[in-house]
Amino acid sequence: MLDELKRIEKAALAELSTVVDQAGLDGWRVTHLGRNSDLMQIFDNLGSVTREERPAIGRRANEIKKALESAFEGRVSALEQETLSRSLQGDRLDVTLPGRRLALGRLHPDTRTLRELYRIFGEMGFQVYRSREVEDDEHNFQLLNFPPGHPARDMQDTFFLETRTGNSSNPLLLRTHTSPGQIHAMREAASTNPDNPPALRMILPGMVYRVEQTDARHETQFDQVEGLAIGRGIRFSDLKGTLADFARRMFGPQTRTRFRASFFPFTEPSAEYDIGCFLCGGSGCEVCGSGWLEIGGCGMVHPIVLRNGGYDPEQYTGFAFGLGPQRIAMLRYHIEDIRLFWQNDIRFLGQFS
Ligand code: DAH
Repeated sequence: MLDELKRIEKAALAELSTVVDQAGLDGWRVTHLGRNSDLMQIFDNLGSVTREERPAIGRRANEIKKALESAFEGRVSALEQETLSRSLQGDRLDVTLPGRRLALGRLHPDTRTLRELYRIFGEMGFQVYRSREVEDDEHNFQLLNFPPGHPARDMQDTFFLETRTGNSSNPLLLRTHTSPGQIHAMREAASTNPDNPPALRMILPGMVYRVEQTDARHETQFDQVEGLAIGRGIRFSDLKGTLADFARRMFGPQTRTRFRASFFPFTEPSAEYDIGCFLCGGSGCEVCGSGWLEIGGCGMVHPIVLRNGGYDPEQYTGFAFGLGPQRIAMLRYHIEDIRLFWQNDIRFLGQFS
């Protein structure tokens, strides 16, 4: 029987070393340590062994049972270890791989241009004044010296608003330009000291609206930046100096400026403001044609407008200008279609860094 025990132990250990998974472990335990295993048979049969042999066989059987149990435990933990190290090898995390780049947002080209305008005019002492987008006829036209029926209104085809309390002589509308902000700004300032209103130097940016057939150069909504300076003794040369300096700061120190006589109801005299084309240097190209780019309108604030704003035209003078920041952005970034600005096409917006 001792030989039999030796054989049982040897066979069990040999088989254990070939076990590679949980199912194998379970099977092995049933076969070699289970109720019907050869080893348990020996315990069951101890009664049939002689008294002399019994203690030695019993002891040996117990030793083998312990040995198999501990070999089993050893195999369990060896297999666990093996599984762990296999998964550490296989699923290895490579921390040196470059991460996925985050798609960063960026500023809209119009916003970039506006912020640059704010910075430049800020350096020249101009404050930003925000004015409403819903106006009435009085502020958008009448107080700016466009009486009802004035032909200059034709250039600004207007979105009128229907209101229940409609006042037909002064309907609400979407502002067609930022110039009505001049009236609000002047009146606000003049109300603080009507006999001696303070000097003003401000820009008034914002969206304006016109009824347009849209095409590559026309949109029903676009930005303007209005400029206004009011004080005692302000002259046309101040206007020219300011806009010439702005052009150099915005487009480079070599930039030339040109003023052409024009007409606006709210300025006298009035001018168109051009800059020498920064693409061709003024020799004439596809974009400019003549070597000059039209950037905006300007002039000396009309005495009637000054009076409507609460400033005595005998004491005060001032200049005003209106710029198209989208036109500036189109020239700088070679944007060929103004409709791209508000289409929110990420392929377009992502090009400006
Ligand atoms: N408001 C004018 C327009 O939209 C632009 C303009 C021209 C504004 C001359 C001014 C100016 O302040 O002086 O057509």
